[in-house]
Amino acid sequence: MQVSDDRGSWGSRAGFILAAAGSAVGLGNIWGFPMQVGKGGGAVFVLIYLACVFLICFPILIAELALGRSSRRSPIEAFATTRPGTPWWVVGALGVMAGVGILSFYVVIAGWTLAYIWFAATGAVVGSPEQIGGFFGAFVADGAKNVVLSFVVLAVTAGILLAGVREGIERASKLMMPALFLLLIGLAARALTLPGAAEGLAYYMHPDWSGLTNPAVFNAALGQAFFSLSLGMGAMITYGSYLSRTANATTSAAWVAGLDTAVALLAGLVIFPAGFSIAGFDPSSSGPGLIFAVLPRLFGTMPGGELFGAAFFILLSIAALTSTLSLLEVPTSALVDRGWPRKRAVVTLTLAVGALSVPSVLSQGAVASLSTLPGFEVSFLDLMATVWNNWALPIGGLLISIFVGWVWGADRAIEELTAEGQTFPAAPLWAFLIRYVCPLAILFIIVMTARGMFAG
Ligand code: PHE
Repeated sequence: MQVSDDRGSWGSRAGFILAAAGSAVGLGNIWGFPMQVGKGGGAVFVLIYLACVFLICFPILIAELALGRSSRRSPIEAFATTRPGTPWWVVGALGVMAGVGILSFYVVIAGWTLAYIWFAATGAVVGSPEQIGGFFGAFVADGAKNVVLSFVVLAVTAGILLAGVREGIERASKLMMPALFLLLIGLAARALTLPGAAEGLAYYMHPDWSGLTNPAVFNAALGQAFFSLSLGMGAMITYGSYLSRTANATTSAAWVAGLDTAVALLAGLVIFPAGFSIAGFDPSSSGPGLIFAVLPRLFGTMPGGELFGAAFFILLSIAALTSTLSLLEVPTSALVDRGWPRKRAVVTLTLAVGALSVPSVLSQGAVASLSTLPGFEVSFLDLMATVWNNWALPIGGLLISIFVGWVWGADRAIEELTAEGQTFPAAPLWAFLIRYVCPLAILFIIVMTARGMFAG
């Protein structure tokens, strides 16, 4: 019998896992994770990060998907329709703001990635570690070029959302995600055989427990886990709202969290062995340029390095694009739910995010001193990343866990998650985590960090 044309690409579980994993796997894994490990003191950060992923973020991922799938609404409306007449919709509004804020600095780094496709392919980044680092510094200081690059990233994102060709992006992710994974494994194999790799591996895998006394490290690990899994701002509520009731949300969530974590861990296995093979490498002070300074050196040691380098940055750009799509989709769906035509919503948001991205671009260059706020030793871009990732997302996650665990109710969420005969054997454990562990652990980390900041 002829099967009718299947238009609901989000109706298939595989399609959903792909889209959600596409949102999760991005610059956060390959650019952000190694940088945060470097700042956070190595292996001890990795362990705290993994604890945050499994005990806090994975339960919240399930909660966001349940809320989205049950309400079939964008984040603001998801809270509003689940508990009408209460102020809970504000949590969705915070998420919409986070989407705009995160996108405004995310497109800047995606722009760097785009440019490095060209640099890698043409062998432009060669020489001593100082020269490679200097090349990066000079490139990001070129404000005009980088404004154009971030606008290109935004325009492509907007174009795809406008055309609504999710099928295209999904199909592309299906090809590109496995390719990115394989390439990362290949790069790790190369990095691990470099001289000095053992030192990098030790740094990455042998924890220095003294880091456990620093609340800022916990805060950074928590923020990184939320950011990497696209949580705390309703991206997964939105994606969950496109999910069919017959698709098992809990096993899908396990796939998404597993893939995302595997890619982040692999990125560290590439960067640290390769980094420590360079004399005088200091992971703690490398900052946003870490991968852009280390990877070209790694490609330089490989036969066909230009090809590998270009392929790597192409795949990373695509991984970034599947994330920018979900970041822009959250505020877009919120405006569409308010009755805006989709086109007007996308165009307005693109212009707003474009304008907001300019200070992040310029903060890397000549006017860096102007945009470094007093009291903060960081650029505007770093500041944006800290405010949204380390504060807004965990606070969003805290409120989501309270809402799902107590206000909507863990029992009702479990009813949703076990609809249509789906099994969820870990339901009691999940209910315990979402009601007690998630809110208390997030609150504890946030309060300790704030105290540390004000005491310091
Ligand atoms: N998870 C994405 C990454 O790791 C970033 C992102 C954050 C996407 C929040 C959507 C929502 O690059």
